[in-house]
Amino acid sequence: MEMRSRALGTGMAVPEQVITNEDLARIVDTSDEWIVTRTGMKERRRARPDQAASDLAIPATLMALEEAQISAKDLDAIIVATVTSDTLFPSTSCVIQDRIGARHIPAFDVSAGCTGAIYALSIADQMIRVGTCRYILVVGVEVLTKITNWTDRSTCVLFGDGAGAVVLGPSEEADHGIIAFHLASDGGAGHTLHMPAGGSRLPATHETVDKLLHTLFMRGNEIYRAAVSTMTESCRVLIDRAGLDADDIDLFIFHQANLRIIEAVAKRLKAPSEKVFINIHKYGNTSSASTLLALHEARMEGRLKPGNHLLQVAFGAGLTWGGILWKW
Ligand code: COA
Repeated sequence: MEMRSRALGTGMAVPEQVITNEDLARIVDTSDEWIVTRTGMKERRRARPDQAASDLAIPATLMALEEAQISAKDLDAIIVATVTSDTLFPSTSCVIQDRIGARHIPAFDVSAGCTGAIYALSIADQMIRVGTCRYILVVGVEVLTKITNWTDRSTCVLFGDGAGAVVLGPSEEADHGIIAFHLASDGGAGHTLHMPAGGSRLPATHETVDKLLHTLFMRGNEIYRAAVSTMTESCRVLIDRAGLDADDIDLFIFHQANLRIIEAVAKRLKAPSEKVFINIHKYGNTSSASTLLALHEARMEGRLKPGNHLLQVAFGAGLTWGGILWKW
């Protein structure tokens, strides 16, 4: 049987500051009732002004390395999924390479919006299966509160900060690990979720700063519809590729963007609620970190047992979407 890659350790980190719905209701015209009923979110975390993506990524990384019983020196590559890297360049993965004392290994960031961790895991999986790498660190990290428009109630209530990490390595049991992945994109809908300024299209000027163009813009309704259809598509493709039925999936980890989106996808797949992991009430939408935070917490809560089939599925800016099917 073909060799697979599997998770040897997972980790997570979130900033200490908790922002409740009541806190947000003091800043913009909103309420706990609106946010809970429309999104399922109760609180989210916010990084300190001096805290950048790598400051969250490193504690998550150390936790994952410790569980994997792997030293930073054993890593063969570092792949970080983020849209809020410490700086536009160098990449956050290079910052992590230096700070954890890894060797001079390949280190690069992946930009695929909230699907970033799925893209990063699929790249790492292929590098391990081809045999060019043995141990790869995959991190999903985001400090979206740094690019949030705190005067826009339709977006500022949705996002939070955090990091999730996975150390992938070759599986000793041939059929355990990543069974299949699915990746997709539709750049034609890119305008529905974007940050207009700060890149080469619209470099920073006083005007871009005054117009708050260095913050996130979103067409919520369009994203909502795309999220439901694309995540359902990824699940169906993966279940089909593996020759499984939806009933064979033991746990679903969907991108934690909106509880109603998660419930709509679960309904289309006829997935019972006890098989669907939720932590959106605690962290809001942490973008690239979301499904890795959920993966770590699901494991800590005993929701994943050896041999279980796990579907980890996300969608995000790009638009991008995709998923990973694991046999745990
Ligand atoms: N508090 C109170 N009212 C709010 C509000 C808030 N925080 N945000 C928006 N509203 C208002 C709107 O202004 C609108 O008022 P109006 O009818 O007077 O114009 C009303 O609530 C309904 O807005 P609507 O956008 O139709 O609400 P919705 O039920 O679609 O929920 C989202 C909005 C953003 C929660 C929902 O569209 C969503 O989750 N979209 C996907 C977002 C996403 O996943 N983004 C990340 C992708 S990775």
